[in-house]
Amino acid sequence: MARLHQDFSIVILTGAGTSAESGLDTFRGSSGGGGIWAQHNLEEVATPEAFAKDPDLVHAFYNARRAALFNVEPNAAHQALAKLEQAFAGNVTLVTQNVDDLHERGGSKSTIHMHGELRRARCTACDARFEWLDDLLVSSVCPSCQSVGGMRPDVVWFGEMPYQMGRIYELLEVCDLFAAIGTSGNVYPAAQFVHHAASHGAETYELNLEPTGSSRDFHRRAYGKASEIVPDWVESLLRGQRVS
Ligand code: OAD
Repeated sequence: MARLHQDFSIVILTGAGTSAESGLDTFRGSSGGGGIWAQHNLEEVATPEAFAKDPDLVHAFYNARRAALFNVEPNAAHQALAKLEQAFAGNVTLVTQNVDDLHERGGSKSTIHMHGELRRARCTACDARFEWLDDLLVSSVCPSCQSVGGMRPDVVWFGEMPYQMGRIYELLEVCDLFAAIGTSGNVYPAAQFVHHAASHGAETYELNLEPTGSSRDFHRRAYGKASEIVPDWVESLLRGQRVS
């Protein structure tokens, strides 16, 4: 069992499965089906075209999801990843596809939200961004330029470029270990991070409830509930072990 050194660098990608046990729905459900995209047509609520066509519907979808954040708490997986960030001797970067704030509330200090954040809004007129805890409405006024009608959730929609991609690719190219946790590997560019990291020499791990369509792309795999397998994995890393 190899010891890990101080320069060891870890990049962790999380997805909706990390927050599932906190009570937030995943997008595609498990192998049994279900999930947010079984209840809503993503083309009607999660694209720039949808917002242009029916902003009330798009706001209602994200307002409900933002309001749901007040009723959930971080779980043991969020807390374990925060512990890793704080206690690991090397570098740990958390990149999440999740738009919830459970990593922050679990104690993580520097999460990259590549798909944006529900608790933030953006003005399409002046591009200013704000913390936004209330409902967003077509009548919402931009606190910066006072425009009305252009406020949108600061989330990344299908067809838009995720945030901080340059920085993420740089991190993937120098990391020693890449882990994907609670993500189905269906959405690009996040789905190809494993290939990018592996092609630059990283050892790759998949931690998920069940095998995904991408499982064979990872060197190592662990399956089970995030609240159980993530704390175990973190403890192994903190003991300075590579885990199988
Ligand atoms: P998905 O809903 O596609 O996948 C969630 C994964 O988590 C599945 O593989 C589940 O098996 C797994 N899972 C469920 N419960 C779990 C648990 N308790 N412990 C561990 N794993 C569990 O969600 P994402 O991969 O995050 O993008 O989806 C990626 C992107 O697609 C989202 O960010 C969103 C969505 O459309 C945008 O809206 C732009």
